[in-house]
Amino acid sequence: MELHLAPLENVSCWAFRKVCAGATDTYTGMLSLNNLIKRNNTWKEVDTYPIAGQRQWIQIATSKETECAEFLRKLDEELKRFPEKDNVYGIQLNCSCPSPQLLRIGQGPALIKRATKVTNLVRELLKQNKWKVSVKVRLGLNLMEVQQRKIHTLLSSLATIDNPNFHGVSIHFKHAQQKSADPYDYSSLKELLSYNVPIIINGGINNAIDYVKITRGVDAKNIRGLMVGRAAIEHPDAIAAIARELYGTAFEERELTEIRRQFYENCSLHAPQPAYLEKIKKYCKWAQEL
Ligand SMILES: Cc1cc2nc3c(=O)[nH]c(=O)nc-3n(C[C@H](O)[C@H](O)[C@H](O)COP(=O)(O)O)c2cc1C
Repeated sequence: MELHLAPLENVSCWAFRKVCAGATDTYTGMLSLNNLIKRNNTWKEVDTYPIAGQRQWIQIATSKETECAEFLRKLDEELKRFPEKDNVYGIQLNCSCPSPQLLRIGQGPALIKRATKVTNLVRELLKQNKWKVSVKVRLGLNLMEVQQRKIHTLLSSLATIDNPNFHGVSIHFKHAQQKSADPYDYSSLKELLSYNVPIIINGGINNAIDYVKITRGVDAKNIRGLMVGRAAIEHPDAIAAIARELYGTAFEERELTEIRRQFYENCSLHAPQPAYLEKIKKYCKWAQEL
């Protein structure tokens, strides 16, 4: 099973992703395709330098097929220009970030109700055969969309994509108006797993017991993996600990001071953008000055 470190805007830079031991898949923070297409500077955030044992994803925000096509062209160019960054495993379309700026332009979770649009965007991104493509969604834009079962319509539509490079859907089990402290609602998991779409389960998973409880009694056939965000911010060994608890995978436990040392060593190799370093110091106690 895949163990994903969640995309974390202004946090999940290369130096951070590299200290998250045990993660099989990691993501850049969400990057606007409009910015990537128009501003060369934004490509600095595509910091996909090698990380042993990790498959690296770029997470994008868009609602336009034309932007997807242009992005694929530019990504190819960028990776040819900087071959040391040519470690991109896949591209994930963000349909989950609740930022009002994103919603105003019809992106992020505003797309959940637009099943055909999302399917078309994925099909556009699949017009190449180098990178996998996935989608990250929430249960709906708001409670009404959850009740209207919009995510079910979306999964039925995505199930029509017959392409081995379509990797599936990461589901953050909340709607986009819920606050970070609100409880997750996993009651629809069983049904969502009945569509023929691989699912990566996300939301409130801090350890193996959380995962076992969430998946008790469901058919695991379509579970592709789990995704962890805040627990890894708190302790970058969180995913390795889950792997050990679920599969007995051995890993070397690190003191937070050692993680801190490794993180700053990574920063000296590939410096994060200043906004990332600022956020990491704000959110990650272990990264703060001693
Ligand atoms: C600081 C921070 C930044 C985030 N940035 C993104 C992002 O860029 N793209 C995204 O899809 N989700 C983003 N999320 C949401 C996480 O990917 C994840 O879905 C959420 O934290 C729930 O998982 P958790 O309960 O394991 O933290 C962010 C969350 C946090 C805390």
